[in-house]
Amino acid sequence: MRGKVSVIGAGNVGASVVQRLGEKGYMDVVLLDILEGVPQGKGLDMLQACPILGCDSTIKGTNDYADTANSDVIVITAGVPRKPGMSRDDLLLTNMNIVRGVTENVVKYSPNCVIIVVSNPLDAMAQLALHVSKFPRNRVIGMAGVLDTARFRTFLAQELQVSVEDVQAYVLGGHGDTMVPLVRYTTVGGIPISDLLPKETIDRIVQRTRQGGGEIVALLKTGSAYYAPSAASVQIVESILLDKKRILPCAAYLQGEYGIKGLFVGVPVKLGKNGIEKIIEIKLAPEEEAALKKSAASVKELVDVMKLGV
Ligand code: NAI
Ligand code: 2OP
Repeated sequence: MRGKVSVIGAGNVGASVVQRLGEKGYMDVVLLDILEGVPQGKGLDMLQACPILGCDSTIKGTNDYADTANSDVIVITAGVPRKPGMSRDDLLLTNMNIVRGVTENVVKYSPNCVIIVVSNPLDAMAQLALHVSKFPRNRVIGMAGVLDTARFRTFLAQELQVSVEDVQAYVLGGHGDTMVPLVRYTTVGGIPISDLLPKETIDRIVQRTRQGGGEIVALLKTGSAYYAPSAASVQIVESILLDKKRILPCAAYLQGEYGIKGLFVGVPVKLGKNGIEKIIEIKLAPEEEAALKKSAASVKELVDVMKLGV
């Protein structure tokens, strides 16, 4: 049976997610936005690429949540992106109202879906979606770690002049300046990164990874990254739709894992048809654990501002 995925927000990230999903060729995709005509126009344009690409996806743009009914997966990208000088956290209040309304509508029409939140500030918006949806925690996932890890892998591969495919890494924690690239678990062709690069170089790459989103905002000036974010979102969608059981870093609602309770934080998870099927606890060194706790504390600050009462 074909899977159905709806993407809310037809801006840079949302439209790119739909394009990438559509090009997979095996699912029904819906693109929804409040702007009249925009999702319909983008959807039709993408659909007309299918005969050229040889893919049999259906792609439909809409302003009506009824078209999203019975989706297997919903990706929430609605919201405003950062402008130069803005942090992800500055977006909190604006995007909070948007994500709340979107989640209410999504749940009404697709009560059994898995929700992937992309809107920023990521961890807080995932927490809001969990709260509003009242879904079990396995069905609300935040997309950030896959993107942050991809940035880390890119910079390491560039530095070492090796294939990105051979760089394995994890970036955990909140999607912000306190994110935690796990150097100790980073390998290139199975070789620990600390055997291949001096500490100063690794530190520089860690810092660039932490500021990876900001670097692109500063260059674009009118928005934030969307090619890598859409690729990261699609990797998560596909692991769920195809029940692949991939182990990927995602924001998950922790209930005591890593000593953190009642908060979305990026950790390695197993992703299958039920969403987050397992939260994987890896043994952290004391300084890594401290960095993760610090990152969780900065997520908590934002969550507290929302006064969700969970
Ligand atoms: P964009 O401005 O290009 O698109 C946002 C879209 O959301 C617009 O088309 C807008 O009309 C729509 N929208 C606003 N309110 C809506 C509502 N109530 N219902 C439906 N649609 C609504 O922004 P872009 O670049 O696509 O980014 C979207 C969000 O994703 C931002 O919050 C951004 O910060 C975040 N983001 C998160 C990443 C992550 O790693 N988690 C990576 C990249 C972006
Ligand atoms: C990024 O990391 C803006 O959060 C987005 O590119």
